[in-house]
Amino acid sequence: MHDPAFDIETDLSTQSILLAAANHDIPALRNLLRNSSANVQDSETGFTPLHAAIAACEPDEDEKTAAQANGKEADAKEAGKEEIEAATKTVKLLFENGAIWNDLDANGETPGCIAQRLGLTELYELCVDAGVRAELLLSRLDEYQLLVGGDSDEEDDEDEEEEGDGEVEVTAEDVEILDVSQEAAQGDESTENPNYLASNLTFDRDRLTDDAGNGVMMEWETTLMRRSAELLAPAPGLRVLNVGHGMGIIDGILQEKQPKAHHIIEAHPDVLKRMREQGWDKKPGVVIHEGRWQDVVPGLVEKGELFDGIYFDTFAEEYKALREFFTEYVIGLLDPSGGPDGEGGRFGFFNGMGADRQIVYDVYGKIVEMDLFEAGFDTEWETIQVPDLDEQGEWQGVRRKYWVLEEYRLPTCSFIG
Ligand SMILES: C[S@@+](CC[C@H](N)C(=O)[O-])C[C@H]1O[C@@H](n2cnc3c(N)ncnc32)[C@H](O)[C@@H]1O
Repeated sequence: MHDPAFDIETDLSTQSILLAAANHDIPALRNLLRNSSANVQDSETGFTPLHAAIAACEPDEDEKTAAQANGKEADAKEAGKEEIEAATKTVKLLFENGAIWNDLDANGETPGCIAQRLGLTELYELCVDAGVRAELLLSRLDEYQLLVGGDSDEEDDEDEEEEGDGEVEVTAEDVEILDVSQEAAQGDESTENPNYLASNLTFDRDRLTDDAGNGVMMEWETTLMRRSAELLAPAPGLRVLNVGHGMGIIDGILQEKQPKAHHIIEAHPDVLKRMREQGWDKKPGVVIHEGRWQDVVPGLVEKGELFDGIYFDTFAEEYKALREFFTEYVIGLLDPSGGPDGEGGRFGFFNGMGADRQIVYDVYGKIVEMDLFEAGFDTEWETIQVPDLDEQGEWQGVRRKYWVLEEYRLPTCSFIG
């Protein structure tokens, strides 16, 4: 039977935690967290204790004006500093107690988004680091589950239901997986690779879209493609491999660099048809591999093909796919004594993971760098300004904005040492 007294009690407990978090009252919060979750949420604002602790640092405009009028700005600054220190301790305590870094409030903001909006760098960095820890833990749990369990969804479901059968039940209640993919949307079936590969594509002057109106590739990315091509093939006569032809932007620029060999892997029949129509199969040095890179690349490794520059930009694939590509294959395909000066080939990729929210982009930037390092690569980042795509009308007719950020971080990877 539904007991209204229980609801009132739960709400009181939620409000007490939110208040203690907003007041940065560590002893009270520690006490409340003994019997309550760090992930309660206000039913109206959607605030979690993390949101409350960070939002409480927003300077009160009246207090600021009064301090200016009284000539007490230095005191107000000092008080602000103390408040941020208290907030830092509160946020750390909440993370230690399993607070989720990416819960959304009613405004669609994560706690880190609030920190970024308010310019609270230290608190923002705490949220980014918590995101990195949570996502790394989850991906490792995922791998562990694959090792001890099966790899099908069905088996995963069974694992969750059956306890004590010798298999490890992995429930990560305090971490939430993010399915970030390049340009694709989480939970949107149209952006799953097999569905995408079966859909009809439309080629316009400035964009390539699929059946569902997803932007597969857009002309505004040309600056990013040009810079990537310059870094991967800085001189003529090199051997390059590009995974994902799309609108052929990077391949066109690579051709200008007069490569000795120019391999392209492409899986979509419509893109392949267009490549033939445009005579890509007859361009100097070009070898087209038709199919998914997952099926093509092992053969290239087996044949001992080596490259000076490798670029990876597919569509509707999860981060896991990119990680598999550089962990399993780049190591075998990139010439350690290649490149224009014989100091080793270079690997690059379209860095679009989580680019619809700054904090997710920053979390995945750190994760990919760590994973690359573990796979044997050093990464150099170059920052490129992205124009205001809304203002330019780029998203008109596109299902979803896959890029909302002002800066693109362009990665170039080379073998460590
Ligand atoms: C974002 S576009 C690439 C754009 C390209 N960088 C350019 O400059 O135009 C992604 C391309 O990867 C292809 N693709 C998607 N999944 C693939 C897979 N598993 N293997 C090979 N190609 C794939 C898509 O069909 C699409 O042509």
